[in-house]
Amino acid sequence: MKNTSCLKPLFEPQSIAIVGASQNPDKIGHKILKNAITGGFKGKIYPINPKKGKILNLNAYENISVVKDNIDIVCIAIPAKFVFGVIKDCVKKKVKFAIIISSGFSEIGNIKEEQKIASFAKQNNLRILGPNVFGIYSAKASLNATFSQTKPQAGSLAIVSQSGALGIAMIGKTKQENIGLSSILSIGNKSDINSCDLLNYLKDDLSTKAILIYLEGITEGERFIKTAQQTGLKKPVIVIKSGRSKKGAQAAKSHTGSLSGEDQVFDAIARQHGIIRAETIQQALSWSKFISSTLFPKGSNSLIVTNGGGFGVLATDAAEKYKVNLYNNKEKLKKNYSSLIPSFGSFLNPIDLTGQAKLKDYQAIMMSALADQNIDSVLCLACETAVFNENDFNTMAISLYKKYKTKKPVVFSFLGGSGKNSSFFDLRSKGVPVFSDLSIAVSTLGALDFYTNWKKTPNGEEKYIIDEQKINLIIKKAVDEERKILGSEEAIKILEILKISAPKSKLAKNAGQAIEFAKLIGYPVVLKIDSKDIIHKTDVKGVKLNLKNPNDLKTAFEEILANCRKVQPNAKIDGMEVSQMIPQGIDVIVGANNNSSFGPTIMFGSGGVNVELFKDISFRTFPASKNQIHQMIKETKVSSLLRGFRGGRPKDIQSIVSTIIKLGAAIRQIPLIKEIEINPLVIFDKGSSVKALDARIILT
Ligand code: ACO
Repeated sequence: MKNTSCLKPLFEPQSIAIVGASQNPDKIGHKILKNAITGGFKGKIYPINPKKGKILNLNAYENISVVKDNIDIVCIAIPAKFVFGVIKDCVKKKVKFAIIISSGFSEIGNIKEEQKIASFAKQNNLRILGPNVFGIYSAKASLNATFSQTKPQAGSLAIVSQSGALGIAMIGKTKQENIGLSSILSIGNKSDINSCDLLNYLKDDLSTKAILIYLEGITEGERFIKTAQQTGLKKPVIVIKSGRSKKGAQAAKSHTGSLSGEDQVFDAIARQHGIIRAETIQQALSWSKFISSTLFPKGSNSLIVTNGGGFGVLATDAAEKYKVNLYNNKEKLKKNYSSLIPSFGSFLNPIDLTGQAKLKDYQAIMMSALADQNIDSVLCLACETAVFNENDFNTMAISLYKKYKTKKPVVFSFLGGSGKNSSFFDLRSKGVPVFSDLSIAVSTLGALDFYTNWKKTPNGEEKYIIDEQKINLIIKKAVDEERKILGSEEAIKILEILKISAPKSKLAKNAGQAIEFAKLIGYPVVLKIDSKDIIHKTDVKGVKLNLKNPNDLKTAFEEILANCRKVQPNAKIDGMEVSQMIPQGIDVIVGANNNSSFGPTIMFGSGGVNVELFKDISFRTFPASKNQIHQMIKETKVSSLLRGFRGGRPKDIQSIVSTIIKLGAAIRQIPLIKEIEINPLVIFDKGSSVKALDARIILT
């Protein structure tokens, strides 16, 4: 585990040397030096250039060794092949941090050079940011050691970007949006300092109120998630993670030389751990600013007020997409709002004041919403009309924002006007959350609701003690035989130890034995092929159900054997499993696995053959709370069936939750198990438990 408590000198250095500082104004070394000087850095600045002389009125030094004072940060902007020499000088000089701006390392395949630098620095306690970064801005030290065109504006948002270009562009964008920064830096190839290290520092940094991270690939996934969760309890963590699409993931891979984590898994566990995931930079910036400056809503009932029916419909669509809950108690809406709306308007949510609404109509309805105990947040939307223009909107937004900001969250959106948006920038500079894009306005409220609910929800971990010794005995046999996959019988035995109910079953070597076992188990029975080489039994017609007598069983045995031989002639067949026939229920899949990026994860979804067809699955990391597991189940489509779809009886969801906890515990406590999956797990009516019909256990 790296020590991150000592990142303070990176954000609050007393001195900085810029290697590659040049008199040539076009060079990056010159620009960094100029930014450091004009940014008003409080400490000492040392330009380093073999030609010495004066650069931007400062004495330049031949190398860092000749500087008499201590140096906290050395910022290196010279070609890659010369960087190691400077790193050696840094070690001799006992420099604390080297920021390597230079490109030309692992991102283009020059991995050896990067590793040489990183391991030499590590051995000698020199911390490295980069290579392949744009530098650092830290408001605390008034340090702008970046080659940004725009001067960053001081404030309370910290931005960590894996991409240098995107990060540097965000300096300009935040200025445009009037968002102040506590710090901004890129991590580039992450040869040493990565996003976890920075999160750990920023979590306790009092000048930072929100953190925005742009990620391409995740290294130390488990640590990242844990750190982000701990940080999220103190301040919002907003993440833009590229690589959602397969092509995007591929581009991210070649861009930084790092592999994007599996996106669907990341998305689900980000939600579990309170990470607010944005899709676009505009969303991320709007959310960061709003969430760090607004008060939290008391509940999750939102009200939309508009003068345009169409605008209201679009807002309703966006509310569904961004999970903004629209208050819908008709009686109360009628009582509180109908008298303020024309007869041809609508008091239902969205409240439609109609196109004739004037400033005073908006003010009246918004004041009612402010006083309404049932409403926790408001979306105030307006379209430009001949009776309500941009100036009216601005006047209203400012006066209402002043009244609302200490009572409940409110966001504004206006469509029309001069189109210059300059008045919006004016409003935003006064802190008013106003957006020209309706979907950004709605998503901002959605992000706030998500974060508020996550912070409120208890997330106690569920524990389950398992009999490790018994399970390890079964595994040992497979390990001794150099097998990676356990046989069905072994897997079912492990389920028994985990107290997961499975139908009575026995492995028969021939048809005669199968008939003998069926007599013991009781008809009707199911017959299934047992072969480590056959993973999807139904694909090879390796399963026969509802066999009622010895004759049926004998025929089924022969048919299954013939089917499997036809499709997979080389499969080694261990026999056939005869098992109790289980009544129909709902088939789901449950599983746990040791994910290479995020550690132990659990999974739930539509089961049986629907797994591949619908890919209706969701994930969480483990340990997880019961509440989080319920949430994971809720995210899938099959959960509607479980809750009782169209008059169907509710199913035993509690038993699914406890089964998942047992699988998660097995993965966590038995390192030899890589993956454990039950498919199908059949779910019966509430109180009637579940049955595992098939299980697959893969070893590490
Ligand atoms: N110590 C001190 N100064 C040195 C040394 C040294 N060991 N070696 C060379 N120098 C001097 C040079 O003489 C030169 O000064 P001069 O102009 O007075 O002659 C200066 O340092 C710069 O060296 P150059 O060889 O001229 O290098 P140049 O400035 O052309 O390029 C750079 C250096 C910018 C680091 C380049 O190699 C590079 O990597 N560019 C890409 C940077 C980048 O994109 N970074 C990442 C991400 S940010 C983003 O994507 C937006």
